[in-house]
Amino acid sequence: MNNYYDYAASTPVSQQVLDAMKPWENEKFANASSTHQAGRASAQAIQQARECIAEKIGARPSEIVFTSGASEANNLALKGLAFKHLDSKGHIITSEIEHKCILNACAFLESIGFEVTYLAPDKNGHVSPSSLAAEVRSNTILISIHHVNNELGTIQPIQEFGAIAFEHNIPFHTDAAQSFCKCDINVDDMDIDMLSLSGHKIYGPKGIGALYIRDARDSELVPLIHGGGQEAGLRGGTSPTPLIVGLAAAVQFYPIKSDPIEEQFLNVIAKFDFTRNGGMSVVPSTWNVTFQTDEEVKRFMSDYPWLISQGSACNALSNVASHVLTAIGMSEYIARRTYRISLPPYQLCDR
Ligand SMILES: Cc1ncc(COP(=O)(O)O)c(C=O)c1O
Repeated sequence: MNNYYDYAASTPVSQQVLDAMKPWENEKFANASSTHQAGRASAQAIQQARECIAEKIGARPSEIVFTSGASEANNLALKGLAFKHLDSKGHIITSEIEHKCILNACAFLESIGFEVTYLAPDKNGHVSPSSLAAEVRSNTILISIHHVNNELGTIQPIQEFGAIAFEHNIPFHTDAAQSFCKCDINVDDMDIDMLSLSGHKIYGPKGIGALYIRDARDSELVPLIHGGGQEAGLRGGTSPTPLIVGLAAAVQFYPIKSDPIEEQFLNVIAKFDFTRNGGMSVVPSTWNVTFQTDEEVKRFMSDYPWLISQGSACNALSNVASHVLTAIGMSEYIARRTYRISLPPYQLCDR
């Protein structure tokens, strides 16, 4: 697809990933829970994948729980932790510009008696550590703030959020669906207790992701899917060996250089009158742009009929200004001239 510029919504599965997955789809199909030789081979492949993901974020393999993607990982982090406090309930801090799966999980938790504070971002989409510190309460049970924003590309200061959470002995979760592999992450240096990631944002398959959980076995997180004890009892269901192997291959073969598409894009966008939203600290592959006039939008759309999104893929269906753009103070009128153009991602930033 040579007119596709929506890589923050999803990436293609790379050839290396497809090759790595293939044998596990048919020849080596045994259930990883089976105790015979073929089953053990699947279990070993899964273990190697677990080691690869863990190493990427400075965690231990036993702290990685495979899920169907970042939405499930986020739900497991939030509900799994909240359900530990069902009797006493408690307070959760997040931000107004999280992915809808976090916001909807929080709304659900509010509906059953938890309190949630939604931190407001500044006009660039940054959530400030001081606003977080100001909202910490004695009954705060969880802080969950994303790493890179999916619509704006802004990089949040998660190390500082982690330090605040650590200081108050509150678990810190981050949704790293848009930063995993792009940005360096070390869960110890950044005081991260839980981290969500997704395969299809990094040239891996759809339907696979993971939740890092510090000391997973002792975490007492309540599983959302009870099953036959897979994933340390935290996520039941037959392990999808091909998808898990594919996720690890995606990490292993993640590109370190930008794609030539990026240069082509820079040449094109320079011909238009626009402002880039998200401030200075943004990932280079995500461009949130507001065209100066409706005419400029029309000219861009007719000259370059690209597959891009207005807001994120999820909001695009509802035809209203996204909650992220509204939260940074953008009017509905300006939001209509605002698009997310996202390029093939690659490894780029220190944090
Ligand atoms: C920041 C963020 N969180 C969560 C998700 C959901 O990920 P998945 O599609 O793996 O469930 C996405 C994907 O759009 C995302 O960008």
